Amino acid sequence: MGRKKIAVAYSGGLDTSVMVKWLSEKYDADIITVTGILGKTKELEGLEEKAYKTGASKVIIADLQEKFIKDYAFKALKAGAIYEEVYPLATAIGRPLLAKLLVETALAEGAETVAHGCTGKGNDQVRFEVGVQSLAPELNIIAPLRTWEFNSRDEEIDYAVKNDIPIKVTKSSPYSIDENLWGVAVECGVLEDPTATPPDDAYQITVDPKLAKDKPETVSVEFEYGIPIKLNGQSYSPAELVSALNFAGGSHGIGRIDLIENRVVGIKSREIYEAPAAVILHKSHQELERLVLDRETFRFKQLVSDKVANLIYDGLWFTPLFDGLMAFVDSIQKNVTGEVVLEFYKGNLNILSRTSPFSLYDKDLATYSPQDTFDRKAAEGFLKIYGLPYKTLNIVKNKTYQEV
Ligand code: ARG
Repeated sequence: MGRKKIAVAYSGGLDTSVMVKWLSEKYDADIITVTGILGKTKELEGLEEKAYKTGASKVIIADLQEKFIKDYAFKALKAGAIYEEVYPLATAIGRPLLAKLLVETALAEGAETVAHGCTGKGNDQVRFEVGVQSLAPELNIIAPLRTWEFNSRDEEIDYAVKNDIPIKVTKSSPYSIDENLWGVAVECGVLEDPTATPPDDAYQITVDPKLAKDKPETVSVEFEYGIPIKLNGQSYSPAELVSALNFAGGSHGIGRIDLIENRVVGIKSREIYEAPAAVILHKSHQELERLVLDRETFRFKQLVSDKVANLIYDGLWFTPLFDGLMAFVDSIQKNVTGEVVLEFYKGNLNILSRTSPFSLYDKDLATYSPQDTFDRKAAEGFLKIYGLPYKTLNIVKNKTYQEV
């Protein structure tokens, strides 16, 4: 038997860097760092070298950008999954994929333990650990941030310096930022005060709508079976399409969200999000569904969307209920094909037009002009019967005790 192996979810930031060294000493283990790329971020520069210098015995880096958008973000998009009505769930959607990569690496490398750098009061520990438990129940999980001796960033920095762990000595941002292609999440610092308006430096990828371009921009998004495939008539891969929309929407100040949200661990937190592409795509996708879904399916889908959003937020991606609800979502996407044209202007997102070969909109039925084909006379009988339960109810209600 060789040395014990631990697969560590590694971002290259201070916490996970300190973790690599700390785990190898405390458990006398070989550390395999595992990094999934879900979007281009500054932390990725020189990551491999840094991981080895920090003491990793093996470094795994996987570019998962296309997979993330295609198999995770677009699934959530089809489902209409938006948490508490506003958050398109960027971080929450990324975690199951990172947990899967961590598990697959651990199994392939013969590690019986995995570790992550999530704190003890956040949602991400839930998503990682429920993900790992669902995918590989035999693995042990260690969460050093919940148990180790360091009480502050400064103590971690001291440890890093003492142990020659390369850390960037840049002016540390007051914010905690989590970024992937589906969106950016920013918390901490002044944002912890719910009465404080987010300062401009809190935003990473969008411009202030007030300072955005004066010229509106028109963009058409084409969907096939609920999946966006073209922008302005041009085909894109999933990750490229999202990148292009983040850039275009961000430059018009679209996709800023400021939310007091309910965390899984029971506390309320305040986070700001930037998700231009996710906001644009959810709005367009829903617009197409308005056109092609019959009324009862549309209404039921709203319930499913809310439930799927909660499951994703709560770390329950790899569960039978999630799969079952997604089967429903897929079954109703076959007509969600068509084009939505939108206008971006100073933080506003306006629908200019929508069209689909499966549109259920019938102008002859809807019109108030002489072309009207709707049978108004039929409405009379319909209403006699439709209102009957309430007519009956009120006749009884208006009776006095003596009459009964
Ligand atoms: N509140 C978001 C969620 O639970 C984001 C969490 C990570 N945020 C951060 N700023 N590091 O999905």
